[in-house]
Amino acid sequence: MKALLLSGSPRKDGNTEALMDRISGHFEKAGIKGEVISFADVTVMPCKACGVCRKKTDKKCVINDDDFHRIFEVMCDSEIIICGSPVYFGSATPNLMGFLDRAGYVARSNGNLFARKIGGPVAVARRAGQNFTFAQLLYWYMINDMVVPGSSYWNVAIGREPGEVANDQEGIATIDRFAENCIWLAHKLFA
Ligand SMILES: Cc1cc2nc3c(=O)[nH]c(=O)nc-3n(C[C@H](O)[C@H](O)[C@H](O)COP(=O)(O)O)c2cc1C
Repeated sequence: MKALLLSGSPRKDGNTEALMDRISGHFEKAGIKGEVISFADVTVMPCKACGVCRKKTDKKCVINDDDFHRIFEVMCDSEIIICGSPVYFGSATPNLMGFLDRAGYVARSNGNLFARKIGGPVAVARRAGQNFTFAQLLYWYMINDMVVPGSSYWNVAIGREPGEVANDQEGIATIDRFAENCIWLAHKLFA
């Protein structure tokens, strides 16, 4: 089994990436191969609403940037997809959302390629906006016919400078429980 964890922060080794690494560590211990992709190294153009993907079945976006197609292939190949984002002015990062818009459109145009994959969002911020960002990303999961397990709280955490999120004990406990629930569900669905 495979899990893809997208860290939507442009900041390398930041709080979002730390949470994705933590979840991936849980997956690895449970025998699920985890791959963390940091959007610090990824730039994708936003969807341009050309509609070409809706008329074809080649699982491609007409915008030919390597990053998009490389990550999209890993998504299709993974049973679990986790999306983490820092909160920027109350929302997920535009680079991550641009990517998810395109991935979702191509997936839905090719017979719902993400249907019944497991996953869920994680949001981290200095102070506020995590719930909105969590909900914003949840919309993407639900319309893509995916299965999202719960946790002991919403998957949100607090931190400003890189690494600070480790001090948020409740946030970390929530993320740990979410990872456990993904593993539990994955073993029920895919073992
Ligand atoms: C452009 C920008 C906008 C931000 N907006 C918010 C915000 O709306 N609410 C908040 O609490 N923190 C906000 N922050 C702080 C980040 O969410 C916080 O530093 C987070 O830990 C960054 O995650 P990262 O280390 O993964 O990049 C903002 C930071 C930046 C750079």
